[in-house]
Amino acid sequence: MNPSLHSLVDLKGKTAVVTGAARGIGQAISARFAEAGANVVLSDIDAEAVAAAAEAIRAEGGAVSALQTDASLPADAERLVAHAVAQFGGLDILVNNAGVFPFAPVAQITEALWDRVMALNLKGAFFHAQAAAKRMLEQRRGGKIINLASVEALQPIGFLTHYASSKAGVVAMTKAMALELGPFGIHVNALAPGGIETPGMKSSTQSFLSLLGVSPEVADKQRGKYAARLPLRRAGQPDEVARAALFLASPMSDFVTGSLLVVDGGHLLGKFPM
Ligand SMILES: NC(=O)c1ccc[n+]([C@@H]2O[C@H](COP(=O)([O-])OP(=O)(O)OC[C@H]3O[C@@H](n4cnc5c(N)ncnc54)[C@H](O)[C@@H]3O)[C@@H](O)[C@H]2O)c1
Repeated sequence: MNPSLHSLVDLKGKTAVVTGAARGIGQAISARFAEAGANVVLSDIDAEAVAAAAEAIRAEGGAVSALQTDASLPADAERLVAHAVAQFGGLDILVNNAGVFPFAPVAQITEALWDRVMALNLKGAFFHAQAAAKRMLEQRRGGKIINLASVEALQPIGFLTHYASSKAGVVAMTKAMALELGPFGIHVNALAPGGIETPGMKSSTQSFLSLLGVSPEVADKQRGKYAARLPLRRAGQPDEVARAALFLASPMSDFVTGSLLVVDGGHLLGKFPM
């Protein structure tokens, strides 16, 4: 007999860690996981904002804890996993969500900027996945690791060479880890969002366009134009990525590993000039 639909999206008894959880996609994922019954540890570099995000979920009855970390630091990855274990007794799900996307033309990508993007988006993601996998291997009950890649890893839109490189690394890392950890019941998958309306997307495009002398009003219009050209004719919302994350975190995806789930309103289907 097949399990009930309810049990397939139930995360009761599971503990999840989400990085970059104070806002945007990470916040939406944390809220959905808590609603599905998981204990959720929200981590972010912004201490005040992550405490507020956790408080909002707690007010809805969720079991949450907040921790300030810098997700680019391997030591903070270890500290975060230890915190989840101390708070909730184990770790079942990791979402490597923290990431930055500072637009810059090729000629202006300094070594410092390259290193900052790689340190968070790729190196940090690996060491979080490693810290989580070590704990999951010890527990011997499997687990789910979800990495935030991007459509940018597959089809660049321009001015994000450093970011595209980091996210292509995330895709390769996801497959390599999935291959090795599959025999232990540890699933490793990636999400490739595109065109999601988040505070980070707004401020990154705004600051880049203002460097080019474009006013915030025109920048808003540009984003609107991009969304209107997508096959689904609109921008995506953080919760629409959270629903895909819930699929990858729950028994709904128990035969899925090493895959890249695209959530982009059809962006990858066409070419979009700036
Ligand atoms: N928004 C999109 O359309 C889109 C598209 C493709 C991929 N993504 C990926 O999704 C993820 C989330 O993006 P978002 O749009 O929600 O971003 P966002 O900027 O809105 O939120 C990111 C969060 O990460 C936190 N953060 C930044 N640096 C950190 C660090 N060093 N340590 C810990 N936390 C840190 C920020 O404080 C913030 O709360 C990123 O990995 C991004 O690359 C987003």
